[in-house]
Amino acid sequence: MKTNAIIAVGISALVLAACSDVRRTPGKVYMPDMAYSRAIETYSDARDLQAEGINYTALPVEGTVSRTDDAIYLMVKDTVGLHAASATWVNPVPHLDSVQAKEADRLYMINCAICHGAKMDGNGPLFKDGSGPFTAKPANLVSDAKITALSAGTLFEVQTYGKNVMGSYASQLSNKQRWMIATYIKSKQSGETAAPAASDSTATKPAAAAAAPAKESSAKK
Ligand code: HEC
Repeated sequence: MKTNAIIAVGISALVLAACSDVRRTPGKVYMPDMAYSRAIETYSDARDLQAEGINYTALPVEGTVSRTDDAIYLMVKDTVGLHAASATWVNPVPHLDSVQAKEADRLYMINCAICHGAKMDGNGPLFKDGSGPFTAKPANLVSDAKITALSAGTLFEVQTYGKNVMGSYASQLSNKQRWMIATYIKSKQSGETAAPAASDSTATKPAAAAAAPAKESSAKK
């Protein structure tokens, strides 16, 4: 009986409490920062929040990639005219200092040399004169006149979108890294365009080019 009475009093107290407007008199707020948070406009520079003692910076976090930089590269692979249009793309890194050249060489060796070869002759370990696991012949980047004629923009475009069986390197290399590799390949080409004319003429004739390495590899065995 006693417990029943206590419960009855408890319930009526709750019911009565519900009648008063609790929300208008919230009583004590023990976390005022949370209850009344300051509204701050994202990325607004109107107030110097640091000076006001508010630990908030309007700058994006370090390393954030600006998507607008990529805007011209958002076309779908094999878009008609893309390969040709890339001839006029302006190279933002037209010269490499010695540190950048070393870095471009490192990136080339990691990403490209496995197919195109450390000497850029299109005969990397994956192709190995046709005996490697990758059966498509990678382009000879330094003595094929068709390739040496390509602008840095097109070398960049090929890395960005891929070419036929060659995949895109846009997810492995940043824009700048791809341009650096393009500039690096151009510098190797100009250093080696003095290569014998004979190698140029075999490279431009695909049948002869394919036959020659096959003979060499059988001779080696
Ligand atoms: C998995 C092997 C492979 C890798 C790795 C590779 N390529 Fe290629 N690449 C090829 C093949 C195969 C072709 C010939 C594609 C064709 O014309 O059909 C080619 C073609 C090219 C061409 C000639 C494009 C043209 O217009 O004819 C360039 C330039 C090139 N690659 C640059 C690169 C660079 C730079 C890298 C490194 C970022 C790279 N490739 C990585 C296989 C590869």
